[in-house]
Parts: sequence; C-alpha cells; structure tokens
Amino acid sequence: MGWNIFVTRMIPQPGIDILQKQCERVDINPEDRVLSKEELIDGVKGRDGVLCLLTDTIDEDVFEAARGVRIFANHAVGFNNIDVEAATRHGIMVTNTPGVLTDATADLTWALILAVARRIVESDSYARAGKYKGWGPLLLLGESVAGATLGIVGAGRIGTAVVERSAGFKMNILYADTGRNEALEKNWKAKRVDLEKLLKESDFVTLHVPLLPETTHLIGSRELGLMKKSGFLINTCRGPVVDEKALVEALRTGQIAGAGLDVYENEPLLESGLADLDNAVLLPHIGSATVKARTKMAVMAAENLIAGLKGKRPHNLVNPDVLRE
Ligand code: GLV
Repeated sequence: MGWNIFVTRMIPQPGIDILQKQCERVDINPEDRVLSKEELIDGVKGRDGVLCLLTDTIDEDVFEAARGVRIFANHAVGFNNIDVEAATRHGIMVTNTPGVLTDATADLTWALILAVARRIVESDSYARAGKYKGWGPLLLLGESVAGATLGIVGAGRIGTAVVERSAGFKMNILYADTGRNEALEKNWKAKRVDLEKLLKESDFVTLHVPLLPETTHLIGSRELGLMKKSGFLINTCRGPVVDEKALVEALRTGQIAGAGLDVYENEPLLESGLADLDNAVLLPHIGSATVKARTKMAVMAAENLIAGLKGKRPHNLVNPDVLRE
C-alpha cells in the first residue's frame, strides 16, 4: 500500500513477513543493539509506522521527528517506554502485545521462586566448581515452597497465571491490587489484603504491576523491612517498581532471605553490589523469551501496525482517545 515502516531492531521473522507483505518499504535496524536517541530520531523520519521495543524511549523529541507516523506498535505488553499522553497529543496511535506473553512470564516467575527457595544457581556453581564431595545432611538447605504463603502484588493476567501454577504446591494465596479479582478469590481462595499485610505474611512476594508513577519504588526500605526475614522477593515486571539500592541493602544485611530478579531499575546496569550476593538470582529480562511468546508478540505488533495504517482500530490500542481527537 505504499507504506514505509521502521522496525527498531530485528524481531522474529513472522512479524517481519506480515509487514513486508503489506508495505512497500520495511527498514530494520541492522544492528543487534538498542539505537541511540539520534539513530532512533533519524530512523522514524518520513515513516508511516514504527514497530518499537521496550528498550526504545519514545518521547516528545521522537514524536516531533515522527511527523507522518500514524502508529507506534510496541513489541511488549508494558508501554512505560512510550509517553502515551504525548502520542495522543500528536494524534499518534500506540499499541502493545498483551496476553501472548502471560504464560511465558508466569513460567519464569516460577523458575525464580523455585531457584531462590532451593538455591539452584548456588548449587549449580558449587557442583561445577568441584566442591561436591558427597551427599550431606546439611548441604545447601533451602526453604520449602509447598504450603508456603504466596503474595501476589498486582493480580492481573500474569499475577493470576502465577497463582494458577501454584496448584500443586498447595499454597496460601494473598493478593494486593487496586481492584478486586473475584475469579482469583473464588477459584483459588485468594485473599485480598493491603500491601502491608501481604508483605508481613508472605513467604514469597511476587510483583506483577505495570510501571506507573504510583508503582515506582512501591517496594523500598520500609516495605522490605515489613517482610519476613525468611521471605523472598521476586520481580518479573519492571525494575523501577523496586528501590534497588534498598534491596541490595536488605539482601546484604539479611533483612530478607533472597530475591529473584528478571528486571532492574537502570537496565541493563545492575545496582552496585547486587551481582556479589549469593542470595540473589539475576536474569537478563527474559520473562517473555520463549520462541512461542516472542513470535506471537512479533505477529501481534505487526498486525496492530497494519490495522492502524488501514484506518481500523488496532486490537491493542492503548490510547483510544487518539481516535476521538
Ligand atoms: C516485557 O517486559 C514486556 O513488557 O513485554
């Protein structure tokens, strides 16, 4: 249709195929790295649509340069990387990819819960280092997950999927959310409590909130201080939800037992001291990193983009107000 598209970094091919079939020109950042702001601004100029990633900061400067761009299709469920208000002001649609990465992210959350509880990474390093000299009754003892209390902060799609996976572990489920999740209460006997009670009573606190001004540093030193000394914190949502300096201190001083992190406050940088701690399991933001989830995300983002260019309302439009302007 004569459309000219920019893709800020290579994504799974099925997404690219959709774009190439429908558009006259599809340029993809040829380098396997995040573009600098100047490169991003250069890349969006003269385009009809942009497929971008959570690592691209799409702000007023980018919108200024993106005259003619009708849609930014984010290849992520989170869209805190995009100034949505500014997009609406510029008459630009923004879309995300909800649902298709719920299972992958919930699976990874469980990988972290089990890894921190049973000291999996520490044990692997121990075995590889040749330290394993035979079974020992006191060797690398961890905490039990079965029967423990699981505290879900943010009971949306991913928080709910994490609860569903707890079935075999027969856990007590607490959740804190701005709204009630009646299905979670009915199907899983989950109890809605305030954040303070959740932090005090949970053995595993797992975070599943979007990054918003109200959730930035939701977990700081006061909140970590409320947690059990035997408690673990899991974060697979967004880094800035946790005050990472306070977390390093809490892990170092034994204020909490451990943490499993997939996201960081200043990604890809880790807070100083974090990587030295044995009681933290650190992953490089791989929550949605399965072939299936990433392929579906690529297809969904491409389909959103094409729908927007065709003048249809994309399925995953996050700023519907833009259509009313
Ligand atoms: C991943 O972090 C996403 O928001 O899709």
